[in-house]
Amino acid sequence: SDRLLVAVSGGKDSLSLWDVLHRLGYDADGLYIGLGIDGGVGYSAESQRKAEQFAAEHELRLIVVDVAEVEGATIPEAASLTRRGRDKPCSVCGLTKRHVMNRVARDGGYDVLATGHNLDDEAAVLFGNTLSWSVGYLARQGPVLEASAQGLARKAKPFCRFYERETAAYALLRPIEYIYDECPHAVGAKSIYYKEVLNRMEAERPGLKLSFYLSFLEAKAQGVLPSQGETGAAGLHPCETCGQPTSAPGQCAFCRTWDQVRARHGLTVERASPR
Ligand code: AMP
Ligand code: FES
Ligand code: ZN
Repeated sequence: SDRLLVAVSGGKDSLSLWDVLHRLGYDADGLYIGLGIDGGVGYSAESQRKAEQFAAEHELRLIVVDVAEVEGATIPEAASLTRRGRDKPCSVCGLTKRHVMNRVARDGGYDVLATGHNLDDEAAVLFGNTLSWSVGYLARQGPVLEASAQGLARKAKPFCRFYERETAAYALLRPIEYIYDECPHAVGAKSIYYKEVLNRMEAERPGLKLSFYLSFLEAKAQGVLPSQGETGAAGLHPCETCGQPTSAPGQCAFCRTWDQVRARHGLTVERASPR
């Protein structure tokens, strides 16, 4: 009976997830975040079209949040104006997507925010976090991240045990029309490199990615690795501008970044509409 908000990017994973949840009878609305990325292929415009087409065909509700409309600049524009994004917009983009997803889930009274992360995504993140022994990130990684008292929505990744090729096969067989292009800024990203390395290992040892991820979950269940409750929540307080929990003093990274972007962009309006 939970009300779900599914973050849909227009790609195969999140549209397949929305399709599956709908077929299973869940009350699931979609959320598409317009990032304003063109990359010579009209990436954002095309992915929005795919998400809207799916929603219309299945008579589902899709909430669209256009970052440029709400915050005053597209993700590539914002990135070019901040130190955080000078090389690549991915950091500003990730920060913004997380903030918007959480805000819409909270304001809309949704119980769970579901994303389309698949096993390949999760194994690559786990690989990166293990290489750097980022204990805090390892503690928070898993199929479900419980809601925090400070107002962060409960998050779920129902497809985290499915290989990317399985979600692609599902989308092709249904069939679901999705955007084939990856984000043009993903080229050269560390996560793609980790995926390639894991694919090479998987080719020689089929099942390696799945066992890597499942063994990690098992180790967490046995208490060998710290879990969500053991790190993090202490030291969080509401951002003085938007109210979302943050560990930074005063403003959260999202508000600080976007205030800087608007100032440098010469935007006199504080922000285009309330957050
Ligand atoms: P990515 O970070 O691009 O690998 O995407 C991971 C998940 O985040 C996707 O499966 C979607 O659930 C969600 N997501 C990514 N981009 C968007 C977007 N523009 N709008 C809404 N959800 C998104
Ligand atoms: Fe955000 Fe590529 S920079 S999806
Ligand atoms: Zn804030």
